[in-house]
Amino acid sequence: MVKRKTCVFISGKGTNLKNLISQSRDSSFPIIISLVISNNKKADGLKFAKKYKIPNICISTNNRLYENEILLNLKKYNITFICLAGYMKIISNKLIKKYQKKIINIHPSLLPKFKGLNTFAKMIKNKEKKAGCTVHYVNEKLDGGNNIIQKIFFTKSDDNELKLKTKTQKLEYRAFPEAIIKIFRYF
Ligand code: GAR
Repeated sequence: MVKRKTCVFISGKGTNLKNLISQSRDSSFPIIISLVISNNKKADGLKFAKKYKIPNICISTNNRLYENEILLNLKKYNITFICLAGYMKIISNKLIKKYQKKIINIHPSLLPKFKGLNTFAKMIKNKEKKAGCTVHYVNEKLDGGNNIIQKIFFTKSDDNELKLKTKTQKLEYRAFPEAIIKIFRYF
């Protein structure tokens, strides 16, 4: 099987990146992580890229030419698929057009509910009975592309933000790899 050369974009802890790296070491998993891009040079997740000797680069979105720099690096590493794993920046329309249907994102809610930031605080305020995560395609609208997979759990009355996050991320570590397998199952 030819594995898709994939770039993972991160901003922070990178636990989803760590999980994807570990999954991709399996010869039957459809992607290989060939590049990690962070907008934040202090992102903890960069340590996983370094540990597994995956090329990694920090491209700050404050840099006027950041979009070109991202595109140049994707080209340099022959990237054909992109996973956003806790990348807290908007992806430019130019990149979306160039990688039409080839960029996916993981979001810690049952989209279309609770797009954007502060998901868990919003859920608690709303007294949500169900929570979960969504892996979806990225299009020009924030958290707006078609869903690939959702995983759901029932909330408890004593769930606080931390508890919701912990339970959601546990599901994310299953949802992200499953979504990738689903996308490439007929290739
Ligand atoms: C994940 O829970 C992901 O769903 C969320 O950031 C976290 C990153 O964790 N993404 C978003 O909120 C995107 N809007 P990680 O850095 O440990 O993988």
